[in-house]
Amino acid sequence: MELKDMRINGERLQQSLEEMAKIGATPAGGVQRLTLTDEDKQARDLLVKWMKEIDLEVTIDEMGNIFGKRAGKNNDLAPVMSGSHVDSQPKGGRFDGILGVMGPLEVMRTLHENNITTERPLVVVDWTNEEGSRFSPAMLASGVWAEELDRDWAFDRTDINGKRFEDELIRIGYKGTLPCKQSPLHAYYEYHIEQGPMLEREGKIIGAPKGILCLHWYDIYLEGEANQVGPTPMEGRHDVLCAAAEMILKVNELPDRMGGNMVATVGEIQNYPNSRNIIPDKLHFTVDIRSWDDDLAINAWNKVAEDFRQIADRRGCPIKIEETWRVEHAPFSDKLVQGILDISSELGYSNLHMVSGAGHDASYMNHLAPTAMIFVPSIGGRSHVEVEETTWEDCTAGGNVLLHAMLRSANEK
Ligand code: GLV
Ligand code: MN
Ligand code: MN
Repeated sequence: MELKDMRINGERLQQSLEEMAKIGATPAGGVQRLTLTDEDKQARDLLVKWMKEIDLEVTIDEMGNIFGKRAGKNNDLAPVMSGSHVDSQPKGGRFDGILGVMGPLEVMRTLHENNITTERPLVVVDWTNEEGSRFSPAMLASGVWAEELDRDWAFDRTDINGKRFEDELIRIGYKGTLPCKQSPLHAYYEYHIEQGPMLEREGKIIGAPKGILCLHWYDIYLEGEANQVGPTPMEGRHDVLCAAAEMILKVNELPDRMGGNMVATVGEIQNYPNSRNIIPDKLHFTVDIRSWDDDLAINAWNKVAEDFRQIADRRGCPIKIEETWRVEHAPFSDKLVQGILDISSELGYSNLHMVSGAGHDASYMNHLAPTAMIFVPSIGGRSHVEVEETTWEDCTAGGNVLLHAMLRSANEK
């Protein structure tokens, strides 16, 4: 068979995704596979087993990133890497992340059964803690690998119950010995569901984002005064939940106030003691700001942080603000993005040049090597929810684009 006629096995990709979807399956059809939980471990074990079945050289680094390497003709050349994550959101979907690990694995399986050796080595990777919902921030381990985040800081991140990242990594048996440190890459591809409505709206099969928006994460802590709700007059209260309510609306109004081209969200809140008859006295909430324009996002934050301070002052609720994480917008390699569009057309798949509003490990990889992503449609534009869905046909289409993109880069001398 000529290389250009090669296709992945869509049924095998479907079976692998269905097998993975059983791990952490939720009653409503999604998955809950939070980072470094027993479900994450089970998915990793299965991935490693599948990697070994096709003779990939498996290595695990000290952040738990799993690499499966397929030798090339010239192993002195920098490899072509593709991957994503096996962790999920709480009550997340069956495609976010895992498609980007099963996709390149299927590419490797296809090359394996056809006895194809590329010029350069190929690597499939599972990055630890992409989602950032159990341990913030997101993209934690690719950030350490890219040497943009500090390893020991990452080890000390804690979940809502105070459990440390490193302790949980050791507990599930995935703290490897390899230093978590970048090595040369020729190209990085990440295959993912779109997680938004554009492809469906435009009736296209393949999306090639020109890049990823910046992501800025903040953590806000408020302190007030608890008391019995009945006898305590309304005046003079220091109610942290009321202060937070005002602040949350300020966040929601921020994109309009800044003239658009950004999104701003409060997605997480912990209120204490969370009893209907106690005035709340401790609260934590998160702020997520995204834009293609990094300066706009920072100006927006400065404005809203000033609002927060005024509200906290007026309500007598001391505030602590943590600027937890910032990753700049990531404009991908024009050459690789154009390659995705061209390959899609050659394979007969309609395609769209677009932008990614969701964050991906590709943001950090983009600092190290020419990078591009391949998107396939999310039905109803829904993601980070149990009803997240993509057709098997579209999963296969994206897999074929990934196959030919990886072949193209891996045969460059
Ligand atoms: C990652 O899933 C993000 O976009 O927050
Ligand atoms: Mn993802
Ligand atoms: Mn996600």
